[in-house]
Amino acid sequence: MKILITGNLGYVGPCVTRQLRVRYPEATLIGVDVGYFAHCLTRAPRLPEVLLDAQHFVDIRRFPASLLTGIDVVVHLAAVSNDPMGKAYEDATFNINYHASVELARQARAAGVRSFVFASSCSVYGFAEDGARTERSAVNPLTAYAKSKVFTEQALSELTTDAFRVSCLRFATACGMSDRLRLDLVLNDFVASAVSGGRITVLSDGTPWRPLINVKDMARAIEWAVERDTQSGGNFLVVNAGSDEWNYQVHELAAAVAQQVPGTVVSINHQAPPDKRSYRVDFSLFRALAPLHQPRVDLHETIQELRQGLAAMRFNNSDFRNSTYMRLRVLADLQSRGFLSEALEWMEKKVDDAVPQYPRLEATAHAI
Ligand SMILES: NC(=O)c1ccc[n+]([C@@H]2O[C@H](COP(=O)([O-])OP(=O)(O)OC[C@H]3O[C@@H](n4cnc5c(N)ncnc54)[C@H](O)[C@@H]3O)[C@@H](O)[C@H]2O)c1
Repeated sequence: MKILITGNLGYVGPCVTRQLRVRYPEATLIGVDVGYFAHCLTRAPRLPEVLLDAQHFVDIRRFPASLLTGIDVVVHLAAVSNDPMGKAYEDATFNINYHASVELARQARAAGVRSFVFASSCSVYGFAEDGARTERSAVNPLTAYAKSKVFTEQALSELTTDAFRVSCLRFATACGMSDRLRLDLVLNDFVASAVSGGRITVLSDGTPWRPLINVKDMARAIEWAVERDTQSGGNFLVVNAGSDEWNYQVHELAAAVAQQVPGTVVSINHQAPPDKRSYRVDFSLFRALAPLHQPRVDLHETIQELRQGLAAMRFNNSDFRNSTYMRLRVLADLQSRGFLSEALEWMEKKVDDAVPQYPRLEATAHAI
């Protein structure tokens, strides 16, 4: 078995790599990523990618078909991965998340790949408060990010054949620890706020619905999709990946964090205009198709895991929204330094002007 994982150097990728390595100790696992966040490691005891057989630094907009030779399965995570980035880099979002993703699938099919697993998102439902959305419900993508996922799903449905199986997993919002932690995800933000400043500020009125999934459970769902046969879902499958118990309103998430981090004050903006993004999701199809790969980690455990992870990082930065834990901040910073273009292409000739300054090492008898 040879599995190629795109976008493996992000938040979800290290958990997927680990899950697939444990499940398939003998498989060839290959990572492909442009590396925007490769340097944003958080408390990893070693580089997560040592579990891979190869890592390629490639922009999927220029994907060399040769990398697909002999590949059985593609797990496609690479994307501009949230609404704020999609707003700031709209063209790049459509080019990477939609056009390049579809072209990658086309190349994969031509190369004889038999299974393509696509990380889609429940954000395709946009605003959906009148009952939980199933896969048969109308989509209502409100942002460039959500639209890019809908367009890609549609194009993938047309590429599917008996020999090229496609699984689109519409993931709930991720949470939990990773070797490349993000704090621009709602629960992660709340725990980081509570731990660092003793206060959670909910910017909305707290009523929006937001289904969540622990990042390790995302990896478990991907393992299932890699293995699934056509009897569970047919050649082309769109499935909501998460669990009904994890449909929370934002104020419930804040209250759960405050309960586990003593002394936390929650402030809710009751005057805020209604949040346009709010959706409840029905995960019964996933439950029926993947009974052995259901989410296992609950909210309490996830908050605990984040607290412990942040403590181990000695995290105390209450200004973390201006830090490298925020994906948009990292892209904006790389761009302002001239390393990345507006189109999110590496400026290849650009190197740091400044010579790195290291502390002077004094030679001493006991230095070694
Ligand atoms: N995190 C969530 O809450 C969530 C929820 C639903 C779906 N998803 C989807 O899961 C996937 C992974 O999410 P994540 O949280 O790990 O995001 P992330 O931003 O941490 O990682 C995305 C990775 O894709 C890579 N990438 C971006 N553009 C690329 C390009 N042109 N070529 C090659 N690599 C490129 C980035 O360098 C990064 O390593 C994404 O497709 C995302 O849309 C995530």
